[in-house]
Amino acid sequence: MKTKITQSPSIAARFIQHGEVVAFPTETVYGLGANIFNEEAIKKIFFAKDRPADNPLIAHIYDVSQLDQITSGIPANAAKLIGAFFPGPLTLILPKNERVPSAATAGLKTIGVRMPKDVVARQFLRACGMPVVAPSANLSGRSSPTTWQEVRDDLDGRISCIIKGDQTKIGLESTVVDCMGDKPVILRAGAVTLEELLKVIPQTEVSNEADTSNPKSPGMKHRHYAPKAKVMLTPFPQYTVPLNSSAYIGLESPPNTAAFKRILICKDFEEYAHELFHFFRECDKEEVETIYCQTVSEEGLGLALMDRLRRASHS
Ligand code: TXA
Ligand code: MG
Repeated sequence: MKTKITQSPSIAARFIQHGEVVAFPTETVYGLGANIFNEEAIKKIFFAKDRPADNPLIAHIYDVSQLDQITSGIPANAAKLIGAFFPGPLTLILPKNERVPSAATAGLKTIGVRMPKDVVARQFLRACGMPVVAPSANLSGRSSPTTWQEVRDDLDGRISCIIKGDQTKIGLESTVVDCMGDKPVILRAGAVTLEELLKVIPQTEVSNEADTSNPKSPGMKHRHYAPKAKVMLTPFPQYTVPLNSSAYIGLESPPNTAAFKRILICKDFEEYAHELFHFFRECDKEEVETIYCQTVSEEGLGLALMDRLRRASHS
């Protein structure tokens, strides 16, 4: 199929209304959307990405009034988090209603819901007129795209339309918080930080799975965050011994910068998060064999950064 590339959210929305799938920018990463109420369209997402059918999708809305269409009641904790963080890079796991096809949630009785802040995303979602389910717009097994060109690299000819927006502002996927129990539980760290969540709900916990201060050996399911190159985590840049074809990303410069094929020194956590996935993809294009990534402290955005770095490192 020919993939239409457009800057117009309303042209893209027409594809959604016709049961096709569309890649669109959000403030986190690009998503690959379909009409949440169209089961055939949802199947096209899994087919285009080559995504395992047991991985649930996130519903994207532009207005809280749309929650009624897809959920069956909002738990009190979720209402607080919606008030504090919507629109933004936060996904809440809520009870789903029976209108949402089970293909969207991989058979789960819950649904992840997020209201993006990005202007183009909101124009697109408003033009669609219904909630849009979307995973990240990468081929399964690759890191999430932060530019429209990366979406095209993965999905050209496999999807109907790509919205040509800017590089995404944050660069890491949203924080996922399970709101089904007594206390909110962070399932995936992201740009809405643990510290920010604690200010709104002091009982918030980090699930063992997402708790990167307690590293365990990542299982096979973590490997999908990895670039082709081998990723090595390094706390101190001076300890890196670059091989022939290596790259380095971190907050401090290693002494032997000339030894690296590609190098990026970031001024803060925000820049590190913004650039990380793009850096991985550029390294893969240049056939870099080893990427050294400087580790960071797990405060604020550092928790999400370390989560993605550990998943990428296979260590
Ligand atoms: O920032 C983001 O969240 C991006 C943009 C496009 O919104 N989306 C994204 O989607 O990263 P995806 O599919 O790549 O990751 C969704 C994550 C997965 O880890 C999935 O297992 C989890 O959220 N998830 C989705 N629905 C869930 C549910 N009902 N219960 C538990 N986890 C869920
Ligand atoms: Mg993904």
